[in-house]
Amino acid sequence: MKVLVLNGSPRPDGDTAYILNMLKKQFPCNTVFETLNTFEAGIRPCSDCRYCWEHEGCCVRDRMDLLWKDDYEVLVLASPLYMSFVTPPLFSVISRLNAVWANRFFLKKPDTMRAKKGILILTGGGDGSPAPAVSIAKTAFRFLNASFDPETSCIYSLNTNSIPVQEDPDILSRMENAVKHIIG
Ligand SMILES: Cc1cc2nc3c(=O)[nH]c(=O)nc-3n(C[C@H](O)[C@H](O)[C@H](O)COP(=O)(O)O)c2cc1C
Repeated sequence: MKVLVLNGSPRPDGDTAYILNMLKKQFPCNTVFETLNTFEAGIRPCSDCRYCWEHEGCCVRDRMDLLWKDDYEVLVLASPLYMSFVTPPLFSVISRLNAVWANRFFLKKPDTMRAKKGILILTGGGDGSPAPAVSIAKTAFRFLNASFDPETSCIYSLNTNSIPVQEDPDILSRMENAVKHIIG
């Protein structure tokens, strides 16, 4: 099984990274992980060039190709909350999925992305609602044909200013639940 991880945190040893490391240990040992650290990947946001209105796919070639390869069974979106949203570089990645929408809407072509499953990881210091981040994550999962159930497949630690993620009592059970849901 291959798992693609999009990590929206800039902090290599931060809260999101801690949860991701824990999560990886829950999968069978032969699982292949590919991680895109979006702060380092330099993926440009969609610039509305409208190439995808007339041609299949996106004309910009960069590390977004990892997603277009579509060779993974599980997609993990992981982000700290920034103003209740995912971080800007992760949103740049998500904006590029507009090519999937254009394929359907303008080119009238069927969606060809393979079916996969989604897991969402969100961390937050404790201020405000995660609803905007959950909403954009749902959009990304939908565009990438990843089934996603917020009840079972969200792993949150939303009070990291008061409770360090390492001491969050609910993390492990949420994680086990999410992975059980994914691999049965
Ligand atoms: C620019 C910025 C905006 C933030 N906005 C929020 C927010 O809206 N809600 C929240 O709970 N925490 C917010 N935080 C706090 C981070 O989400 C929190 O510290 C998180 O645990 C950091 O995760 P990381 O170590 O994986 O990067 C913000 C932090 C920064 C730097």
